[in-house]
Amino acid sequence: MNDYVFGATDLVDQQREAMQRCLDPNTFTQLESLGVGPGWRCLDVGGGGGSVANWLARQVGTTGSVLVTDTAPDGLRSTEIVEVRQHDIVTDDLPEAEFDLVHARLVLLHLPERRRALARMVRALRPGGWLLLGEFDCTWLRVLATTDPEAGVVFARFHRALCTVLEQAGADVRWGVHAYQAVRELGLVEVGSLARATPWPGGGDGARWLDINSRQLEDQLLGTGLVTAGDLDGVRASLGDPAFVVSSYLTISTWGRRPLGDTPGWAAR
Ligand SMILES: C[S@@+](CC[C@H](N)C(=O)[O-])C[C@H]1O[C@@H](n2cnc3c(N)ncnc32)[C@H](O)[C@@H]1O
Repeated sequence: MNDYVFGATDLVDQQREAMQRCLDPNTFTQLESLGVGPGWRCLDVGGGGGSVANWLARQVGTTGSVLVTDTAPDGLRSTEIVEVRQHDIVTDDLPEAEFDLVHARLVLLHLPERRRALARMVRALRPGGWLLLGEFDCTWLRVLATTDPEAGVVFARFHRALCTVLEQAGADVRWGVHAYQAVRELGLVEVGSLARATPWPGGGDGARWLDINSRQLEDQLLGTGLVTAGDLDGVRASLGDPAFVVSSYLTISTWGRRPLGDTPGWAAR
């Protein structure tokens, strides 16, 4: 099992909740645009707190199914429609040519073996099935408004330290941008992407998510030498101040479809 950088803290539940509140509306819009509906067989990889799996279950109904996996499936609940499986997308097999939809959000970004995992996800698609990835370009995080320019400077230091910690743990902090080519190279068709960034004012869900991250990774952030404990206190104060507004990370949805009529020896192998 890999060492997911945010996995080992007691703040995981709060992190999941803030993340879902920030990202779910856009994810659900993207899934709707792919046509998810009654009878679909869906796979959500690295399902975290389960909000996407539970939403999918409502769309596919009892004639469909949702398999949701995670290396740490404690936030996931089985139902008549949802099957929960402890599963490592890097090392564990998946059924092949099975799913109408395979989705993963903010999972591959963290995994050094992301391309191997992606190929496994693509092989799990039935011919004609859709892949949807939701990933960040983590380098895109800007101060949009502040009453104190120094607070913006300190935040920029924090952001640089955060990206450094993620990279030290094996993340590709620009995976949101790199995913498009990776999906094309695996032979999917009708490949598309949509990028979005939205203001995260202090005190809101996005700012709370960043505040939680600053606490989850405090030791590693200080270990980079790029920020001090005083900087982190300052960042947390800013993130609680509605006058301090940052742009969210650039959130990039990338999708593609397994061609109809391909053979078992196709590109994703
Ligand atoms: C940033 S969270 C995203 C959770 C969820 N996809 C969401 O967007 O709400 C990343 C999730 O991936 C899971 N994860 C990390 N490594 C994994 C792996 N190798 N295989 C499957 N899941 C993994 C973590 O346990 C965590 O739940």
